[in-house]
Amino acid sequence: MSRPWVDFINIDEQPAQSCANDYGTFTYREFANGTTRNEGKSSPIIAPGKSIMLELDSNTPIAAHAAPTQIRAFIFEGNIKLDGQEVKERSYIEIPAGSQVPAITVDTKARIFITYDGEYTITSAKAEKNEIVIKYMQDIVWRTPIVSDFPGGAARKAFYDHGDYGSGILGILPEWESPFYEWHTFSEEILIVEGSIISSFGTMKRGAYLSHPGGEDTVHGPMYSKEGCLMLVLREGPIGNTFTPADPVEVASRKM
Ligand SMILES: [Fe+2]
Repeated sequence: MSRPWVDFINIDEQPAQSCANDYGTFTYREFANGTTRNEGKSSPIIAPGKSIMLELDSNTPIAAHAAPTQIRAFIFEGNIKLDGQEVKERSYIEIPAGSQVPAITVDTKARIFITYDGEYTITSAKAEKNEIVIKYMQDIVWRTPIVSDFPGGAARKAFYDHGDYGSGILGILPEWESPFYEWHTFSEEILIVEGSIISSFGTMKRGAYLSHPGGEDTVHGPMYSKEGCLMLVLREGPIGNTFTPADPVEVASRKM
């Protein structure tokens, strides 16, 4: 499963939306809407699902509830409190469907990237299970990227890898480049956390998001980063990347 093709959008340019229920008022901006199979650029939407930025402040507490679907989240800005315990900016949170979502409060302001498949319809305040996973980026060591022939100068901090899907931070060095066209068998969702990267569609900076379903027609690249970049990456599907040398004129154009 993946979100539909988006390449790329900036979060601050998306309209704020709001919905309220017994558990709180949820203000968010949307990155992508719908769940598709990993079947290329025009994979049809086959189920609900969203990737959003939830915007919280001291007036928008969210009450504890049972997660109606698996939630994967990354604290993009600010610190939050889960049942009163502080969880810092750049932490990753994963909660399985049917597990407890703690009460969420914020002292000043926070923004949380959230992705889920299905409909987020809360039906219960109390869950049977309590299987939350919280990983702080600072506590994780850099390791090699998952794609074995990924261009040099990149490393990964793994948040949570399941068999065929997972999440982590990909870091690339200043002056990193990928002089290739690439497509992959897995889908990727990317949110820029720090720095910038120039891809096929312009310069992505903090708050820029893209979604590439897997498939041969989702070719992207070449890419270049002058200052280096940290990005949240969510992937799903079998690992396989096809790199083809890009037109040198196009490679050079990324560095203008
Ligand atoms: Fe890619």
